[in-house]
Amino acid sequence: MLTAARVLGRGRSHSLALGARALSSSAASPSATKDTFSIGGEAFEGRAAYLDGAATTPIDPRVLDSMLPWMTSLYGNVHSRTHMYGWESDSAVEHARGQVASLIGASPKEVVFTSGATESNNIAIKGTARFYKARKTHVITTQTEHKCVLDSCRALEQEGFSVTYLPVRKNGLVDMKELEDSMRWVLAQGRSGA
Ligand SMILES: Cc1ncc(COP(=O)(O)O)c(C=O)c1O
Repeated sequence: MLTAARVLGRGRSHSLALGARALSSSAASPSATKDTFSIGGEAFEGRAAYLDGAATTPIDPRVLDSMLPWMTSLYGNVHSRTHMYGWESDSAVEHARGQVASLIGASPKEVVFTSGATESNNIAIKGTARFYKARKTHVITTQTEHKCVLDSCRALEQEGFSVTYLPVRKNGLVDMKELEDSMRWVLAQGRSGA
């Protein structure tokens, strides 16, 4: 059974005790404790290494420890301005925002928390394109981008933007000459007022 104590690998704290209940639910247990796996029909002992760090990553035990109280007992809607639960959560989120900002040398106003990469990519791509729409209407991306990036670009095409989907070479990298050519083409279109 997966418990917070096993995840954290250290002593039980107040937040840990609260979290142990949440993490020991039967839904979390079966796959987490599986100790064999197979590839191409061949069985192996242990747990396969998960290498797609772009898709998801394990949570740092220190983050889990900090978050457990907010996920189990101190939760409140950050946007609720009329009660203590909201104020409490809001203050914790703003504290975290300040920490992230100072870590990356940004202003807290520049740090936006989202639900994940799909939401972030949509906001970044559509937001930037719409902001510059009066002056810039072409987007260059690659054919191997994640679906959420490609879908955002398709959505921009519906709004009147044009998009270049560059191919990548066998090693996954863009041919810089092709990128330069695309940029020159965009500039030429701009000069001709197209
Ligand atoms: C490169 C890349 N972008 C975006 C996503 C989408 O992430 P999320 O599930 O956080 O929206 C993934 C998920 O696998 C990804 O690998």
